Amino acid sequence: MNTSGNERGVWSSKLGFILAGAGSAVGLGNIWRFPTTAGENGGGAFVVVYLVSIGLICLAVMIAELSLGRHTQRNPVGAYKTLAPGTAWKYLGILGVLTGWGISSFYSVVAGWTFGYIFKTAAGVFSGLSPVEIEKVFTDFITNPVYSIGCHAIFMTLTMLILFGGVKAGIERWSKILMPLLLFILLLLVARSVTLDGAGKGLRFYMMPDWGAMTGRGVVAAVGQAFFSLSLGMGTMITYGSYLSKKDNLLSSAVWVASLDTFIALLAGFAIMPAIFAFGLDPAKGAGLIFVVLPNMFNKIFLGNLFGTGFFVLLTVAAVTSLISIVEVPAAYFIDEMKMSRKKAVSIAGFGAFVAGIPAALSMGTVGWLSDLLTIGGKKLGFLDLMNLVFGQYSLIIGSLGVAIFVGWNWGADKANAEIAEGNPKYSGQTIYAFFIRFMAPVAVAALLICLILFPDAF
Ligand code: PFF
Repeated sequence: MNTSGNERGVWSSKLGFILAGAGSAVGLGNIWRFPTTAGENGGGAFVVVYLVSIGLICLAVMIAELSLGRHTQRNPVGAYKTLAPGTAWKYLGILGVLTGWGISSFYSVVAGWTFGYIFKTAAGVFSGLSPVEIEKVFTDFITNPVYSIGCHAIFMTLTMLILFGGVKAGIERWSKILMPLLLFILLLLVARSVTLDGAGKGLRFYMMPDWGAMTGRGVVAAVGQAFFSLSLGMGTMITYGSYLSKKDNLLSSAVWVASLDTFIALLAGFAIMPAIFAFGLDPAKGAGLIFVVLPNMFNKIFLGNLFGTGFFVLLTVAAVTSLISIVEVPAAYFIDEMKMSRKKAVSIAGFGAFVAGIPAALSMGTVGWLSDLLTIGGKKLGFLDLMNLVFGQYSLIIGSLGVAIFVGWNWGADKANAEIAEGNPKYSGQTIYAFFIRFMAPVAVAALLICLILFPDAF
């Protein structure tokens, strides 16, 4: 089945996989997208739906993706082709490749902002500025095409350079040092944020679900965010699972990655939400939220510029380890299925994402019509928001639904269970897992999507 087994990498250890998997999962999704989306969708209620989705749907899908990858040792398209040759399932893999291209385009734009903010914070640009002035610095920065496209270009180039060399040892080693450091700075921010004057309102908004403010679209956003944050639905975990050794415990690795990711997302909320209210900002502000909230907070912290710079360096690193895993999906497809060299595959995947990211970069106010493409639920959506919605939300939900149906019903829960039991002889969750992957995950997600299609207005 696996003809290229010897050329493929294997994580050096279970810890190596957990760190690389967490490197993929922990990124802008946790610190930028989670508080932003929660802020737009009613705070606490969003958080509850998010947590329920992780436990009831996402974990099962993550285990399914890892099993598929480790069993077939292939990229997503190859995995479906191996297990269901001559069928349409391969298109699910192709959707994943397209989604990788779509997400990497706008992800690199936002990652470019974090990169630019390293220099702004280090230069003390925000020192002594009021919240309104800080917001103006952000708007000036993202509406300047030279900066926004320039930072996007630098970020994508950096990602491609790492991918050219093969990333395994690099990611593993860097993740070990940098992830704990990111956690440390995040804890510091939480401590400062919850002690700001007026933080209580934000804590209430974040922790007390207001179900009246929650819409069906909010539920979809929370489920979509859970898939995005855990890097599910486009085959990243199939690809990463394909580098996982048969000796490793797949189940506990998945639980570790999901737990670390969820913990960091929740912490980011505790760092951001109280501060939003303390500084009198609007939680439904959208994409720019953290770039305005955090500099305000750094102004209130001893050695704020230093910690601020450190924070944006680490966020940039967290974004790189995620972006690598996103671009790796189309790249692995080109390498495995189109027999391209790694250099050529990465160049095409990276350059394609760079080009698709240009309108996203220009859609934050630089080019009028790109900033205002359509209005959904009274909210104006620009090109970046639209890419985020289509690829970062719907595509991942549809992809995850497909994985659950494929593993639960086509490949079969028994085969997945057998794969999970490799490297975990004491595994005894066969019945529970079969229930989750055959019924719970597909039924919950399908029901949600059907409601959304049937009752678009009620949502
Ligand atoms: N999980 C990453 C984050 O939270 O930033 C983003 C991501 C990576 C999404 C890989 C999808 C993916 F396949």
